[in-house]
Amino acid sequence: MLMEKAPCLFIFFFCAMITICIAVDTITPNQSIDGTGTLISSGKIFELGFFSPGKSKNRYLGIWYKTIPDVIVWVANRDNPLTDSFGEFRISNNSNKLVLLNRSKVIVWSSNSPSSRAGKNPVAQLLDSGNLVLREVDSMNSEYYLWQSFDYPTNTHLPGMKLGWDLRTGLERYLTSWKSDEDPSTGDFTYRMDIHGLPQAVLVMGSSIKFRTGAWNGVRFSGIQLMTSTNGALNFTFSFNENESYYMSEPLVNSTFTTRFTLNHSGIIQRLILENKSTQWGIMYSRPYDPCDNYDYCGVNAICRINGDPICGCLEGFTPRSQQKWDVLNLSKGCRRKIPLTCEKGDGFIDLGGVKLPDLLDFRLDKNRSLKECELACLKDCSCSAYANSDIRQGGSGCLMWFGDLIDVREFKVEGSDQALYIRLSASEIKSIRAEKKKKTLKLILIASVISGLCILALVLWCIIWRLRKTKVRAQGMDDVIELPLFDMAAITVATNNFSPANILGAGGFGPVHKGKLLTGQEIAVKRLSKESRQGAKEFKNEVNLIAKLQHKNLVALLGCCIQGDEKMLIYEYMQNKSLDYFIFEHKRSSRLSWKKSFDIVMGIARGLQYLHHDSKLQIVHRDLKAGNILLDANMTPKISDFGLARIFEGDEKETTTKRVVGTYGYISPEYAVDGIFSVKSDVFSFGVLLLEIISGKQNRGFNHPNHHHSLLGHAWLLWSERKALELMDPYLKESCVESQVLRCIHVGLLCVQKYSKDRPTINSVVVMLSNEGVKLPQPKHPGFFIERSSSTVDQGSSFGNNEESPSVNGVTVTFHGR
Ligand SMILES: *[C@@H]1O[C@H](CO)[C@@H](O)[C@H](O)[C@H]1NC(C)=O
Ligand SMILES: *[C@@H]1O[C@H](CO)[C@@H](O)[C@H](O)[C@H]1NC(C)=O
Ligand SMILES: *[C@@H]1O[C@H](CO)[C@@H](O)[C@H](O)[C@H]1NC(C)=O
Ligand SMILES: *[C@@H]1O[C@H](CO)[C@@H](O)[C@H](O)[C@H]1NC(C)=O
Ligand SMILES: *[C@@H]1O[C@H](CO)[C@@H](O)[C@H](O)[C@H]1NC(C)=O
Ligand SMILES: *[C@@H]1O[C@H](CO)[C@@H](O)[C@H](O)[C@H]1NC(C)=O
Ligand SMILES: *[C@@H]1O[C@H](CO)[C@@H](O)[C@H](O)[C@H]1NC(C)=O
Ligand SMILES: *[C@@H]1O[C@H](CO)[C@@H](O)[C@H](O)[C@H]1NC(C)=O
Ligand SMILES: *[C@@H]1O[C@H](CO)[C@@H](O)[C@H](O)[C@H]1NC(C)=O
Ligand SMILES: *[C@@H]1O[C@H](CO)[C@@H](O)[C@H](O)[C@H]1NC(C)=O
Repeated sequence: MLMEKAPCLFIFFFCAMITICIAVDTITPNQSIDGTGTLISSGKIFELGFFSPGKSKNRYLGIWYKTIPDVIVWVANRDNPLTDSFGEFRISNNSNKLVLLNRSKVIVWSSNSPSSRAGKNPVAQLLDSGNLVLREVDSMNSEYYLWQSFDYPTNTHLPGMKLGWDLRTGLERYLTSWKSDEDPSTGDFTYRMDIHGLPQAVLVMGSSIKFRTGAWNGVRFSGIQLMTSTNGALNFTFSFNENESYYMSEPLVNSTFTTRFTLNHSGIIQRLILENKSTQWGIMYSRPYDPCDNYDYCGVNAICRINGDPICGCLEGFTPRSQQKWDVLNLSKGCRRKIPLTCEKGDGFIDLGGVKLPDLLDFRLDKNRSLKECELACLKDCSCSAYANSDIRQGGSGCLMWFGDLIDVREFKVEGSDQALYIRLSASEIKSIRAEKKKKTLKLILIASVISGLCILALVLWCIIWRLRKTKVRAQGMDDVIELPLFDMAAITVATNNFSPANILGAGGFGPVHKGKLLTGQEIAVKRLSKESRQGAKEFKNEVNLIAKLQHKNLVALLGCCIQGDEKMLIYEYMQNKSLDYFIFEHKRSSRLSWKKSFDIVMGIARGLQYLHHDSKLQIVHRDLKAGNILLDANMTPKISDFGLARIFEGDEKETTTKRVVGTYGYISPEYAVDGIFSVKSDVFSFGVLLLEIISGKQNRGFNHPNHHHSLLGHAWLLWSERKALELMDPYLKESCVESQVLRCIHVGLLCVQKYSKDRPTINSVVVMLSNEGVKLPQPKHPGFFIERSSSTVDQGSSFGNNEESPSVNGVTVTFHGR
């Protein structure tokens, strides 16, 4: 053996226990330190020395707390004990190791540094963190350790210790349990960082997993909530990059406790806390904690819900592999799909929010994919059974796909950072789940409506009594009074500069619309109903009463009205940006909208319509939805206007007929135009037309194509059938568009304009289909009016003599008599 320069061992000796007491600072290389007593190197907090656990006669070199009894935090020669009272602990002759020799001078333990570099002038020291280090005295960098005990933990993870991998050297730091209380030798359990795919910590016994934390999702492990500096007493660090993958925790500065994290010999990990001045360690948490923590507790394709009864259940769309076994709570077989994946078109996903993600057995990770791309990738691969975001930060990114069975899923909700899993199911399964859900909501609605019905009844009775009393006192003739501000005719005349033609914004169905400015400075739009207009007193009251009750961000707000003699006027909020037709049909680049804006407008209109059809207290059919009736405010928020033709549906009335068919060419649904039947689905038709117009930048009415005589709807349908739907898109939108979104809009548009009203979706479904990329859409059938027009009728405008359109007055409302 080489003898180099004198290495030395700086150990601060304090006389603690009996037998020997050597108070030296420096130990020469030839000085052996025998363990006939307790060798103590004592720091402020920790001590290094020899000990025998419990009744055992074996002696070990270890580290323990100086003032806290009976807690060994590290053992050197755990698998090779000294059998008598002699032990010699020193730096090796070639100065690169710490060695422990027994009486026969045989090395029973040595620090096997990964580096073969010999120290020139090494010093061994026990740090206050409990770390025994062999460091180079001359090193400029005091952190340069030839070896440190923190790299070779036993069953205890101390603050500041890293648990995990140094990927540059391949060093893995992990915990291994003791065999028993009296035997520190390597036990059955290990707790380590698994870096296969995404990192997760696993508790393993032999080769079987007992517990896992779930994969790291950028914020936390998917199945545990971390103690972080903001929500707990510990400062938790997780590092995951090309050099290292580990976690570490430390008490915050100024904390009033001591903490350690151990893996005990029954295979339980525990975070222990000792309050200052206390002598009793408390358990902060331990794992596995509840049955759901046990790996694969419920079997494959099942989910463990700790508050459930029973706590194990099959995932949605799955059923027990063996019902008999499941009934006696033998869960070992788990669950299988009710309907196997056939890998046909139409498979879909259901999302399961707030879960610990399945174990990464057979998986693929692609950090570059978005959730949407992840879904598509999963659909493409027949064996893909689920997917999720791999990182939940910033709204989620990355793609994690699972193949085959899903294992060890548990419900795990964490406020603010829930993680969703998307499970693939066959088309028919998705359908039946949806139907089931619908049934449930219907039931709920039924119960709710019975209750609210009773309430309303009580309210109505009260109202009637109240009215009866009131009318006795009040003068007659006010029965139709509208609960809206009544504007003074004079004020309106001034505001509109005596109805100056220069202030005309456009002409609605029943008269011109003037811009005005009240003395208060508020800008208004005044709809003056022409005396000869068809909108008589009936329509007027209708519109006023209707709109007065409607309040929605996507409906134009009525400020008041004005009645004087024959004059009837409606006063609306003024919309700075006029109407939508100006933006979509104008072939000037400067006035065109970006795709995002267009899409926002589409969503706004859909929401406004949703409110009319479903969400307001009344069910209202607008009957004249068209680009010209969509006004835009300063922020380009679309607002549906012109309720002159709107009809309220009462009770469970689904559709109704009228002799007077009113509406606008190009937007009227077939059943309405032909049979005078209208329903909410006629509005959906108009919405579909509008949607296709927004995308194509072309008007349905008067649409012309060199190759055929179809309307815009027919044209869209043809392109769709030829899988060239994107060609429908207005070239102006090309730069800013999101292709998948455009395709989805065209698809939804075609669903809305289907010939038969029963095929068309409700506006509620439309909103869902437009706003969720994940929703599967049915195939559209032929649109209404799918017949080629003869070339002579292409120019419909002239056939009804409505060709007095100005750019802002598109699609004049017409009235004609059906049947
Ligand atoms: C190390 O040196 C000591 C004394 O200097 C000697 O007794 C011992 O045999 C040496 N050990 C080895 C392994 O060479
Ligand atoms: C250590 O012992 C060896 C041989 O016994 C001797 O040559 C060497 O000088 C001693 N070293 C010191 C520092 O005493
Ligand atoms: C020292 O260790 C060796 C190897 O483990 C063993 O053979 C020998 O008996 C031990 N000597 C004593 C005195 O325990
Ligand atoms: C990884 O180590 C290399 C070399 O030591 C260093 O240049 C790089 O910055 C490290 N990367 C990270 C993320 O710390
Ligand atoms: C948490 O630990 C990190 C790294 O050790 C440190 O930079 C940070 O200041 C600590 N935070 C608190 C609140 O102690
Ligand atoms: C810790 O306590 C000291 C003294 O009370 C105080 O000055 C310091 O700001 C505290 N540090 C933290 C991080 O709270
Ligand atoms: C509590 O104990 C820890 C560890 O022994 C120590 O670092 C800390 O200063 C103590 N805090 C107080 C307030 O005594
Ligand atoms: C291990 O920890 C668990 C949980 O705190 C405890 O119930 C068990 O008794 C411990 N086992 C041993 C051997 O200490
Ligand atoms: C559950 O069933 C399996 C066979 O499928 C059997 O091996 C196991 O012992 C059963 N477990 C219990 C708790 O009965
Ligand atoms: C992921 O994206 C980054 C940046 O966009 C790119 O540099 C990298 O090559 C991509 N990786 C893969 C595997 O596509």
